[in-house]
Amino acid sequence: MIKFSTDKKIWILETDDTAYVFGITPGGLITASYFGAKLPRVEDYPAAGEQPAWASFTNMEGQSYEEFSCWGGPRYNEPCLKVEFHDGVRDAVAEYKSHAIKENMLTVTLKDKFYEMEIDLVYEVFADANIIKKSSRVKNTGSNDIIIDQILSGAIYPQQANEYRLTHLCGRWIGETQLMQQVIPEAKITLESRKGFTGHHANPFFALDKNSNADEQHGEIYFGELAYSGNWKICIEKDNFNSIKITAGIHDFDFRWILKAGESFNAPALVYGYTADGFGQMSRNLHKYQLKYLNKFNTNSGNRKILYNSWEATFFSIDEAGQKKLAAIAAETGVELFVMDDGWFGERHSDKAGLGDWFINNKKFPEGLKGLINHVKSLGMDFGLWVEPEMINADSDLYREHPEWIYHFPNRKNTEMRNQLVLNLARKDVQQFVFSFMDKLLSENEISFIKWDLNRAISEPGYPSAEKNEMRQVWVEHTFALYEIIGLLKAKHPKVIFQSCSGGGGRVDMGVLEYFDQVWPSDNTDAFDRLLIQEGFTYAYCPKIMEAWVTDKKNWVNGRELSLEYRFHSCMMGNLGIGENLTKWNDEEKAEAKKLISEYKEIRHVIQNGELYRLLSPRSSHLFSVMYVTEDKNEAVLFAMLQCNHFGKELPKIFPQGLDSNSVYTVNIDGNDIVMSGKAFANIGIEIKLKGDFKSKIVKFIKMKVES
Ligand code: DGJ
Repeated sequence: MIKFSTDKKIWILETDDTAYVFGITPGGLITASYFGAKLPRVEDYPAAGEQPAWASFTNMEGQSYEEFSCWGGPRYNEPCLKVEFHDGVRDAVAEYKSHAIKENMLTVTLKDKFYEMEIDLVYEVFADANIIKKSSRVKNTGSNDIIIDQILSGAIYPQQANEYRLTHLCGRWIGETQLMQQVIPEAKITLESRKGFTGHHANPFFALDKNSNADEQHGEIYFGELAYSGNWKICIEKDNFNSIKITAGIHDFDFRWILKAGESFNAPALVYGYTADGFGQMSRNLHKYQLKYLNKFNTNSGNRKILYNSWEATFFSIDEAGQKKLAAIAAETGVELFVMDDGWFGERHSDKAGLGDWFINNKKFPEGLKGLINHVKSLGMDFGLWVEPEMINADSDLYREHPEWIYHFPNRKNTEMRNQLVLNLARKDVQQFVFSFMDKLLSENEISFIKWDLNRAISEPGYPSAEKNEMRQVWVEHTFALYEIIGLLKAKHPKVIFQSCSGGGGRVDMGVLEYFDQVWPSDNTDAFDRLLIQEGFTYAYCPKIMEAWVTDKKNWVNGRELSLEYRFHSCMMGNLGIGENLTKWNDEEKAEAKKLISEYKEIRHVIQNGELYRLLSPRSSHLFSVMYVTEDKNEAVLFAMLQCNHFGKELPKIFPQGLDSNSVYTVNIDGNDIVMSGKAFANIGIEIKLKGDFKSKIVKFIKMKVES
């Protein structure tokens, strides 16, 4: 997987289908030399080179494809590292020192020419997922402080082409993960968050397709995601010589880190890849990596339980009797996990009070948490609970006791959003508080699932009692503390599934997913809007982690009324949940829900663990279709979702993908069995007849046994 060619001085990182190569130039720079399809001969990979200067205005160093450019000398594009040494020198000169290859890992160590600073470039290759992960680590090997002004995870240079198009995910609350595309101009594009968390408005994912011509099945794409949940940035710079440099990492905005003697700073990982087979293959590679390798606690085997969440049914009007009633109906229809949302603790009767007071409100729950949990367990379900540990209301006992625990600048107003303030997680006492109350909740109660919410961004990021020159570290310390707390909780309570929620999909990224098991992609639960959100989501993230709840017939977001079947089908494309006010269901609806839930139980292994093929997009077709195929290609499930039918026109044919070309499959559509080879299905297609608005159908493909 990883080789070092001593004659060419290049490191060759190969996956099953791709290769990433970089090396040492004759002038001593470390530059990228190849990224693309794996070549048949190792000898074919080029040596690392330098780019020529252009007159007296651009120098070789600034033009070359440096693997990890340190600011200093004539460099004017985005640096990966910018530091200041104790004597005020702000020019880093990193040279090759050594390297080590251990199985699928490579560490290349650089050393400053004069100062006592080393940099490790760390790579990990995931061959079967065609994914490489890289990160950087700066080490202070001397006795004086080093100030880090900027540290990114690394750079990538797509091969030159006429043009590249950027695909990325944008959005807002109740409109997350919308796909955006634009041709990259001769300029710099920055995708970023300065909000202290990942953000609804942008997601740390990018894809650049060569000559802007990729589709789901064809085209060369360079893609990646930053595994980080705090302030982040991804820069895409196209220079005047048609070269593109992509850099990604922790945002340098308001960032400064004092690296003391003997300390190291680990940048988060940049997870990236290349494919020649379109956006579909890009997503499948990312999904495979997420399912097999990403989560530190390896919780992605098996199937996820079907959950019920009480939020849209009750909002803050929550009590023991009401929750028990909902739980009984949920269990009757086949739900496996009952999750109680906001409102169960302290004086939490609205979003104005109570955050921080993490003890059960005995007026609402006379038997305590245990009363409800025992009831849920007796119904055969697991129990889950909502928390928002990083936040506090000014109207809470915790705030009255510890007003100093929030981020704030003295003499300035503390901005409240949703009436809440942000706890200063950079403080050790706050970290201890959060860990302890969570540990107590999990130790004293049979809780199998935690929904960890975050409903505002950080503002006034002040930490008045910190050392003055360390005050800007809070942005990063907050995120690292979150990871550490979840890591400790996971280690102590390994069976608990953690969901990352941030007012919907505000904190979805590969950093949070190293610790959390699944996410709530959006508070928008309209089953049709959701198709667009889910399509964008699956570009970067796998369906298994994508919770989707069936909610009330008339959706609160836009008043759209949809059938129970359509709502279920939309949610069955991911990790199915129910969020409807079940007490309003009549017997017919209960029976239909029960049937649909049992149908999902039969196909969920295909959806949650299979490979996804996007067949028709809701962005360009009134008929939307996706398909999931098991890795062994024995089973597949296809969804067809019609928005509306115009002028009685025939609907487009759907061309199933992902089946084994030479195997024979059977599928039943409206009572008719169709038996064809996988290749025939892909080339001839199938017709799914749907009439009316918002109609849907699921069909299953089964591989036929070959008689021997
Ligand atoms: C925002 C979440 O996205 C909702 O699902 C719900 O948990 C509320 N917070 C509760 O305050």
